[in-house]
Amino acid sequence: MAPHVTVYEVGPRDGLQNEPAVLPLEEKLELVAALAAAGLQRIEAGSFVSPRWIPQLADSDRLVESLPPSPELRYVALVPNAPGLARLRRALDQAGANGPAVDAAVFVSASETHNRKNVNKTIDETFAAFDEVVGPALAAGLRVRGYVSTAFGCPYEGPVDPGRVIALAQRLLALGCYQVSLGDTVGLGTPNQVRELLSRLLARTRPEQVALHMHDTRGCALANVLVGLEAGLATFDASIGGLGGCPYAPGASGNLATEDLVHMLLGMGYETGISWERLVDAGALAQRLVGRALPGKALQAELAA
Ligand code: HMG
Ligand code: MG
Repeated sequence: MAPHVTVYEVGPRDGLQNEPAVLPLEEKLELVAALAAAGLQRIEAGSFVSPRWIPQLADSDRLVESLPPSPELRYVALVPNAPGLARLRRALDQAGANGPAVDAAVFVSASETHNRKNVNKTIDETFAAFDEVVGPALAAGLRVRGYVSTAFGCPYEGPVDPGRVIALAQRLLALGCYQVSLGDTVGLGTPNQVRELLSRLLARTRPEQVALHMHDTRGCALANVLVGLEAGLATFDASIGGLGGCPYAPGASGNLATEDLVHMLLGMGYETGISWERLVDAGALAQRLVGRALPGKALQAELAA
């Protein structure tokens, strides 16, 4: 049997948070529906951060209330603090017992400067906020994912000590996160660096507890994913068409494009459960909604063919 890889879609969250235009709720739901129709089973769709910091996702409450439930599909929303968790839980209550399954995701940076710019807190203060998120979310029956951002380099501080990343990943897992995604926030990571970090981290964790979240800012995202596959990882984050970035990290534009990742995985014989034709349809829709060509190479090649 072909080995299975989970493609974790972040376009509606990481992609849209970085768009200058705010998409109306109906268009966000249309994009999510197209991604689900393509077979994606993990879709990060919203963010319960401050609407002042990220106005693009300020309607995440209404979005979660409206997400169509589906047995295989788990949505995810970012939750930085107790007010964010209260919003997610209220939206899930509104959606009712037959509503969607939505996991929470917490995020912290490996570098103090990026963390401060991103959430206005030190790393320790961020973990104090997580104490009010992770335990209560688990007690309420939610699942929680964790992110370590700037895991392969910081736009403000430069190189990041892999020991710090490993310690933060272990701290998130110890809190109860089911998985930690290592974020290459501005696409600085290169394959040897990823190999070294993963070999040290996987000596202490199971492969299914680790994912890679590569931005393709400097063109190394797929090479880094290949190293992750060889190390035994089976979850990779990507964004439809390559939408995305982090508004509090200069130069973070461009997540790894979902179509580029899926093209490589299918060609290598991995099973993803994703329909290529429908994925391209979702990419074409994403372009229409944001009103410009997206950077994903496989999408552009397919649309030009
Ligand atoms: P703060 O301003 O320091 O917060 O923001 P505060 O606790 O002092 O509160 C200030 C005001 O915000 C108060 O309202 C709070 O009620 C409100 P006021 O009294 O002034 O009217 N507030 C909230 N409102 C709604 N929902 C909330 C919430 N929390 C406080 N959850 C905060 C702190 C963390 C909220 C802010 O810094 C923030 O929202 N930052 C988010 C930045 C962000 O979303 N960045 C992008 C996501 S991370 C990413 O993209 C990286 C990733 O993709 C991985 C990778 O690539 O590496 C995950
Ligand atoms: Mg990101």
